[in-house]
Amino acid sequence: MLIKKPADFRYSEITPKSLYVNRRKFLASIPAAALAGHEMLSPSRRALAGTKLANLAKSPFSTTEKENPYKEVTTYNNFWEFGTEKDQPAVQAKNFRTEPWTVSVEGAVAKPRKFAIEEILKLAPLEERIYRHRCVEGWSIVVPWVGYSLSALLQQVEPTAKAKFVAFESYWDLRQMPLAKPEIAGLQFPYVEGLRLDEAMHPLALLSVGMYEETLPPQDGAPVRLVLPWKYGFKSIKSLVKIKLVGGQPPCTWNLANPPMYGWYSNVNPNVDNPRYSQATERRLGEFRRRPTLMFNGYADQVASLYAGLDLKKNY
Ligand code: MTE
Repeated sequence: MLIKKPADFRYSEITPKSLYVNRRKFLASIPAAALAGHEMLSPSRRALAGTKLANLAKSPFSTTEKENPYKEVTTYNNFWEFGTEKDQPAVQAKNFRTEPWTVSVEGAVAKPRKFAIEEILKLAPLEERIYRHRCVEGWSIVVPWVGYSLSALLQQVEPTAKAKFVAFESYWDLRQMPLAKPEIAGLQFPYVEGLRLDEAMHPLALLSVGMYEETLPPQDGAPVRLVLPWKYGFKSIKSLVKIKLVGGQPPCTWNLANPPMYGWYSNVNPNVDNPRYSQATERRLGEFRRRPTLMFNGYADQVASLYAGLDLKKNY
């Protein structure tokens, strides 16, 4: 009997077989030219990826652990709008147009407004934050992100007393993302995520505009994304276009797709196994031996107080 190890399962296995069969049929029916269509966009309209970001402040939140190489972090991605395989986003998102780009910040706020990406880049001093990043699938990486605390953006719009949660939404356009369909990915789009307001305001919650001292490459969520290092990677939503402050708990893409597998909180917790993946250990990309996973991914000193009194087995 073939027994699959947790690490052998893929996200795609949450997808019902009928969808999978359809996906293969659908892919076979797309002319190669259509999949490569966005290659034809003019280079000047490409992502800002590769622009140097200067004068970065150091962050006390940075780990001293060894960074993963740029090549590894930019060719092993989860970005299902650009394909469900790890090597697909680097290819399929290559010419993703991220100019012009705005992020709308709205809802229960005194001053709702849209922020152009140029403004976001200047809203607060840019910091380099070297964070551990742990995926629910059992791998982890260390990335030198660039950005500032999400709270700096949220403060600009002045959340009202009605704001209890924050809902996030990714860019979604089939012309640029022909693979971003439920029948292909087994997920609903646009990709959405959510946090409690106090989690979103926590200084560790990073609004990231870059990595390795440059603007973000498209496959890593250009031009602006979240990075929540104490939560499983799927909470770190990419290519943000909308942030809405709301009164009730917002829906989250993976939680909607399979609630027992992907909890709403999804704080890294080695003591709560996922039905498919043990969360006790992880494999750092580039290493062979697995290492123990730390509570809140090693950020317990900073964030544990957010969850005081909360049953973390029920609220996984
Ligand atoms: N955001 C969007 N819009 N679409 C996605 O498919 N994947 C998530 C998250 N953000 C995803 C997303 C998952 S599952 C992970 S592990 C991280 O992005 C991966 O980020 P990275 O590719 O930069 O390492």
